[in-house]
Amino acid sequence: MERSGSLISASTLGTILLMISFFQTWKFIAEAKNVPVPAVFFFGDSYGDTGNNDYISTSIKGNFPPYGRDFIHHIPTGRLSNGKLIPDYIVEGLGVKDLLPPYLDPKLQDSDLITGVSFDSAGTGLDNITSTIQEVIPFWKEVEYFKEYKTRLIGLVGDERANMILSEAIYFIVIGTNDFAVNYYNYPFRSAHYTVSQYTDFLLQIYASHIKELYSLNARKIGLINLPPLGCLPIKRSKGECVEEINQAASGFNEGMNAMIEHLKPVLPGLKIVSLDYHAVILDFIQNPGKFGFQVTANGCCFATDTETGFCKKFTPFTCADADKYVFFDSVHLSQKAYQVIANIFLRREILRLL
Ligand SMILES: *[C@@H]1O[C@H](CO)[C@@H](O)[C@H](O)[C@H]1NC(C)=O
Repeated sequence: MERSGSLISASTLGTILLMISFFQTWKFIAEAKNVPVPAVFFFGDSYGDTGNNDYISTSIKGNFPPYGRDFIHHIPTGRLSNGKLIPDYIVEGLGVKDLLPPYLDPKLQDSDLITGVSFDSAGTGLDNITSTIQEVIPFWKEVEYFKEYKTRLIGLVGDERANMILSEAIYFIVIGTNDFAVNYYNYPFRSAHYTVSQYTDFLLQIYASHIKELYSLNARKIGLINLPPLGCLPIKRSKGECVEEINQAASGFNEGMNAMIEHLKPVLPGLKIVSLDYHAVILDFIQNPGKFGFQVTANGCCFATDTETGFCKKFTPFTCADADKYVFFDSVHLSQKAYQVIANIFLRREILRLL
């Protein structure tokens, strides 16, 4: 009896041990497939600016209606759309938080800092002249802000945890649109001296040097959002049609960016770096709007836009009824619906390669 009793308990123990090891294996696989991302950082222009320009002296702002019309409580936050932006949908999709806050917001809590912020500034570019024209934060300054951020993070969580957060975080950069759409094609500063291809090389050199700098600060997972078909932005269209020459500049930059990524990989060991194909998704919206429920592709939802900036005019009464039917909200920026579709595509595709 006693012997048989101990046999039963031994096998019971075995079952429990097996269950524990099964549970641990299962948990490991689950975590490996659904890697927790500790933080997300965004750098670049208006496509990632969740409100930094609200805190600087510039006319490039989105802190007035109709911006934010379909945002939580209908508040204009500086996001240049009727609602959320790609960074917001990405952090939500990765289970990090609901919205990505702007770094310059003085009300940021410690918990906001630890899980990542946006350093983007609407209107900026890789070229210093672009940010000077628009009176916004130059790209190099965003990287300086990130260094300041790193010091603050170390102060909050200590060296070891800060380095873990920074090396496992995902960094997104969206930049270049203003260098072409605002600077090169509107002003002579660069276009008088550089061909499109020379200007592209100039921009990509700056891009590569900042990526190396982020790597030296411990970034190991970087996603570069490529340029949209710039000639199809409502502000750049001619008589409603996409301008091929400007589209070619964007495609050339994107090809160069892919080549830059391939050059950087062997130089920066352990770096995961991918291109996120913003260009292809937006072109698909424009060529096959019905597939996504869009009806209007050639102009934005807010009809009364400033002819220089392409932004909605303040308190315009002409804004469309349903922004979800529009690819664009103003003449440069997309609708919340378009940003949501794009973020979901990135989450299912390119971002998986960064996990
Ligand atoms: C842009 O300006 C910064 C600060 O003045 C400078 O360090 C950097 O070299 C400039 N970049 C280029 C490409 O001229």
